[in-house]
Amino acid sequence: MDSVRLDRLSENVGHDVRVLAWVYNIRSSGRMFFLQLRDGHGWVQAVASRDEVTAVVWERLSELTEESSIDVQGTVTKHPKQNAFEVQLKDITIVHRSEEYPISKKEHGVDFLLDHRHLWLRSKRQWAIQRIRNTLIQGIYDFMEQEGFLKIDSPILTPNACEGTSELFMVPYFDQTAYLSQSGQLYLEAAIFAHGNVFDFGPVFRAEKSKTRRHLTEFWMMDAEMAFATHEDTIAVQEKLVTFLIAKVLVQNRDDLTTLERDVAPLLKITPPFIRLSHEEAVTRLHSLGSDIKPNDDLGGDDETLLTAQFDKPVIVEKYPAAVKAFYMKRDPANLSRVLCDDMLAPEGYGEIIGGSQREDDYAVLKQRIEEQKLPLKDFEWYLDLRRYGSVPHSGFGLGLERLVSWIGGLKHVREAIPFPRTIYRLRP
Ligand code: 4AD
Ligand code: MG
Repeated sequence: MDSVRLDRLSENVGHDVRVLAWVYNIRSSGRMFFLQLRDGHGWVQAVASRDEVTAVVWERLSELTEESSIDVQGTVTKHPKQNAFEVQLKDITIVHRSEEYPISKKEHGVDFLLDHRHLWLRSKRQWAIQRIRNTLIQGIYDFMEQEGFLKIDSPILTPNACEGTSELFMVPYFDQTAYLSQSGQLYLEAAIFAHGNVFDFGPVFRAEKSKTRRHLTEFWMMDAEMAFATHEDTIAVQEKLVTFLIAKVLVQNRDDLTTLERDVAPLLKITPPFIRLSHEEAVTRLHSLGSDIKPNDDLGGDDETLLTAQFDKPVIVEKYPAAVKAFYMKRDPANLSRVLCDDMLAPEGYGEIIGGSQREDDYAVLKQRIEEQKLPLKDFEWYLDLRRYGSVPHSGFGLGLERLVSWIGGLKHVREAIPFPRTIYRLRP
């Protein structure tokens, strides 16, 4: 008999089916067994009554342990009241009888759970999170395709820094040193000259010493880059993308959001236009809220939280002081001490989810910036070439996937948003 996926049981009410699954939970009343099963697609309760199954089946049920893998047959019934289905179990084969499972239903400390991340992924909450992440990944591809962006894969091993030299992971590379990519942006800038609008999506690395709930050392970023595009043009795409992604999760992952006990009311409010503030305006507001941020400071995590608490939509803070931002950002012609950049800050204290900017497109100015920042000019010659052969105004942004998953899922820490988190203290499992 072909097996049936647990998310397709509704199509099989009244029929006998075969299910391949794991046992999430076992309850027994002596005459009855109640098994919570999961198969990767869904969850169901299987019920067996001593009077209705053979002695062999009853014996196998009695031997079952949590997390055992099983092959069962039974009849699908609909719960009389709830919109739920059950399997009236008739037969069972134990594929593998699990040893005593280390993650019990009692509360565990987060370090214990992270040490057992390879098992923790099976729990319902973690399952829901990865499903939301998957919707966002698919949604990003859908949106970018719809908007005419071509996917370009940027390299992970690179000779130079994209986002400053202090957070680089070094890798021995034969007789040279390579760095793990912090962002594919510079390579995407090359690709716009071939394809117009492009994006990449992959793991990036930051040797972040930060221990905050927003920082990982390995995370996934979608970089987008557009030719003949200004600072304003990139903000319009960012806003449309985030709106699209939230709407998609609200449709596809309602049950998962419920599993996470995520209040969806704040997500339903995410419609364009988002809030727009200049960095200068943001600083003024922050002062009125009690922050001691200096006029030319970057916004710290606490400032981001304080500021976004004032609004129920994402806040786009633009035109930061040039000194706190990357070398490639174009200066604001109206105020040369500032750059044409934006950070999109998520509401509810989740902080920066997107960083974007218009890029410096003038050869001489860009060369000067590279020299000012004491970056190795030799390694940036190819990047400067892009300003020598048909340079255009261009802009782009990078979206941090785990930050987005955390916000949408209402997670406390970004480490739950990625299957195997890497932080300053964690390289295992
Ligand atoms: O603001 P960032 O550093 O921007 C760039 O790397 C640009 N080159 C992107 C571009 O223009 N193509 O990083 C982009 C996003 C941040 O807004 C944040 O969401 C996420 O990446 N991010 C992190 N997420 C988790 N852990 C970290 N350590 C992160 N650092 C950045
Ligand atoms: Mg940033």
